[in-house]
Amino acid sequence: MAPRVLLARPLFGLLVLAAQLFVPAVGAETDLSSLPADMLLAAGTEAYARGDWSAVILHMERALRAREAHRARLIQCRLRCAANSTDGLPAKDEQQHPAPPAVGERRPLDDLRFFGQLLRRAGCLRKCLPDGASRYQLGEETELEFRKRSPYNYLQVAYFKINKLDKAVAAAHTFFVANPGHMEMRQNLDYYQMMAGVKDSDFVDLEAKPHMEEFRLGVSYYTEEKPQAAILHLEKALEAYWVADTECRALCEGPYDYEGYNYLEYNADLFQAIIDHYTQVLSCKQGCVTELASQTGSEKPIEDFLPSHFNYLQFAYYNSGDYEKAIECAKTYLLFFPNDEVMKQNLAYYTAVLGDNLATPVRPRKDVELYWRRSLLEKEQLFFAYDVFGIPFVDPDTWTPEEVIPKRLQEKQKVERETAARISEEIGNLMKEIENLVEEKTKESTDMNKLVREGGPLVYDGLGITMNSKLLNGSQRVVVDGFLSDEECRALQRLTNAAASAGDGYRGKTSPHTPSETFYGVTVYKALKLGQEGKVPMQSAYLYYNVTEKVRLVMESYFRLDTPLHFSYSHLVCRTAIEDKQEDRADPSHPVHVDNCILNAEALVCVKEPPAYTFRDYSAILYLNGDFEGGAFYFTELDATTVTAEVQPQCGRAVGFSSGSENPHGVKAVTKGQRCAIALWFTLDPRHSERERVQADDLVRMLFNTEETELPPEKETVAEKEIVAEKEIVAEKEIVAEKEIVAEKEIVAESSTPAPAEDTTLGKDEL
Ligand SMILES: *[C@@H]1O[C@H](CO)[C@@H](O)[C@H](O)[C@H]1NC(C)=O
Ligand SMILES: *[C@@H]1O[C@H](CO)[C@@H](O)[C@H](O)[C@H]1NC(C)=O
Ligand SMILES: *[C@@H]1O[C@H](CO)[C@@H](O)[C@H](O)[C@H]1NC(C)=O
Repeated sequence: MAPRVLLARPLFGLLVLAAQLFVPAVGAETDLSSLPADMLLAAGTEAYARGDWSAVILHMERALRAREAHRARLIQCRLRCAANSTDGLPAKDEQQHPAPPAVGERRPLDDLRFFGQLLRRAGCLRKCLPDGASRYQLGEETELEFRKRSPYNYLQVAYFKINKLDKAVAAAHTFFVANPGHMEMRQNLDYYQMMAGVKDSDFVDLEAKPHMEEFRLGVSYYTEEKPQAAILHLEKALEAYWVADTECRALCEGPYDYEGYNYLEYNADLFQAIIDHYTQVLSCKQGCVTELASQTGSEKPIEDFLPSHFNYLQFAYYNSGDYEKAIECAKTYLLFFPNDEVMKQNLAYYTAVLGDNLATPVRPRKDVELYWRRSLLEKEQLFFAYDVFGIPFVDPDTWTPEEVIPKRLQEKQKVERETAARISEEIGNLMKEIENLVEEKTKESTDMNKLVREGGPLVYDGLGITMNSKLLNGSQRVVVDGFLSDEECRALQRLTNAAASAGDGYRGKTSPHTPSETFYGVTVYKALKLGQEGKVPMQSAYLYYNVTEKVRLVMESYFRLDTPLHFSYSHLVCRTAIEDKQEDRADPSHPVHVDNCILNAEALVCVKEPPAYTFRDYSAILYLNGDFEGGAFYFTELDATTVTAEVQPQCGRAVGFSSGSENPHGVKAVTKGQRCAIALWFTLDPRHSERERVQADDLVRMLFNTEETELPPEKETVAEKEIVAEKEIVAEKEIVAEKEIVAEKEIVAESSTPAPAEDTTLGKDEL
């Protein structure tokens, strides 16, 4: 009846270790509790080989505790000494010399004071660490075994053998969290799951990091739209973060790692030696960002982990009506990303609601500001050391402002990047395969992000959410009303018909989706060109251009995207029922499909590969009218038949959704009249942004002499306008820069994806 316990063969290295070390016999007089963790681990491994389960438990549990105790002692001692070293000597010294010493004599005294402090600190450390502390320092290999949580692998077998199931399950689960690819442990866990007497609550992670647990809880409440609970846990996560950060940094102050130097040949002089060690410690402290953001068992740390707390929090506070806190968190986030457009808009919105007099005094959080300042100073020193001594520093943060990096280093890095670019171009074909894999991976993670991000502000006045995902019975869906007035809708409908008769290549073709409807369409750029030629009213073409940008910004904000959304394709389309072809009509106006994958409804799968437009991330349709029969838009399940929600078109209404398999959709037959809508597809991948849009931007800039192509939000204070003006300059530069990138990327894109040729435009139209 016993489950097959498939323990991985005990590690050979550990057995060797056990043989080398003095292994006390169980029951001997030796005081086990004072032994270092590596000896206890070795003793536990040896007991495992003998099948002495209670000894395995005794030694392994003690090994875990011994390592933890050593860690705690080190941390406590270093923190205590750090706190002690700031007071005392220098102040007393200065009291004895009330008159400031001359410049010439200040130098040697400063040096002495500096080293005096170091001496005191070292003396403090020597006092507070136990004798022979180095005996407790674990070797690299043993430390790795602990990090892989190997002791829990032994423990789960031992506990199972002595029939302590709850402990066995906890140990198994704890091990598995850090080793998610461990097939044997997965099978063990499956067995445990089926066993009588095992409760769900037994599956605990005994080594869970509190800050990560709270963060995860906070985010999951956030996702469930429970802002109060999200706030509670995210604030707790931050508290735990500071503790973990302090501890992590204290642990960095260890011995110098010669890193491949032969220490016998190491002959650095005083300051060089100090700096070698100091930069190593400082680098390690900077590395705590990554250490704290890493999730057990996952290779990639969470990006921008600390700032992201404030991104979640600002919105959770906003959702629970606490504007002051929302402002505080938004300002805190902006410390790290001062140019974040969405956050700036949020802040402007919260400020407008709360009122300037209340909003202005709200500061970013003190502790974070301090952290940010310190981190910048550390980076400055590390970059200096990189520049001057060539001690490499890999910055773990994405938010570091460029000014922190010395000019010379920036140039050197630029040259290095260019060289790297040349090399990678040469092996480009090989890289592309890898790139595709990576792209899929990041797509997966953005898919994950999408779940969390919904419900951002609508940016413009006069817009309202008519239905959210919940009301639309799905995810990543929204219906927003108020984009256009009746007059504007009519102008755009006239524009399409005028464009069609002016002959822009569509000329009232039969719909590619049904023989019972005709189909006219015009792109933004075409409309502007026709306006320029006087074939359609210029104002209508401009309106068309403006309103598509408005939809783009709203989508970006509402779905809380942290990278810009680019136009991938936009098309104003009118479909007209052909009167004598409506009898017995059974086909839809547009069959059910998914925008970025090929839907196989029978197999219930959606294949995300070309010829599907796999790079499309979000879609929106803006309706111009509702005075026709049929033509409702609907979402379905993956089977393409079970309708989950229906949306009735009307002037100024937009339906927006993510373009993936979560949102199959179609359009019912238009049986009478004309149905007009602007279909918009967006991508997060700048490489796939629409070339025609860039041309349209240029044309608008030329025709209307606008500095900026973005529509500023309608609400803005005087102070904000000044900021906007400043931004415009930046924005322009960015556009130029982006174009260059696009141009470069297009070469790549053209060879890998079918270029959308003019004649196939109809096929691209899916709504
Ligand atoms: C810290 O300083 C205080 C007095 O300033 C002293 O009593 C204490 O022993 C010091 N702590 C350590 C660990 O040296
Ligand atoms: C389009 O937007 C620009 C910039 O906000 C504005 O000046 C212009 O009047 C708008 N034009 C139309 C036709 O909506
Ligand atoms: C969502 O589903 C409910 C129940 O099936 C239905 O009554 C409702 O109309 C659906 N929502 C939409 C927008 O179609």
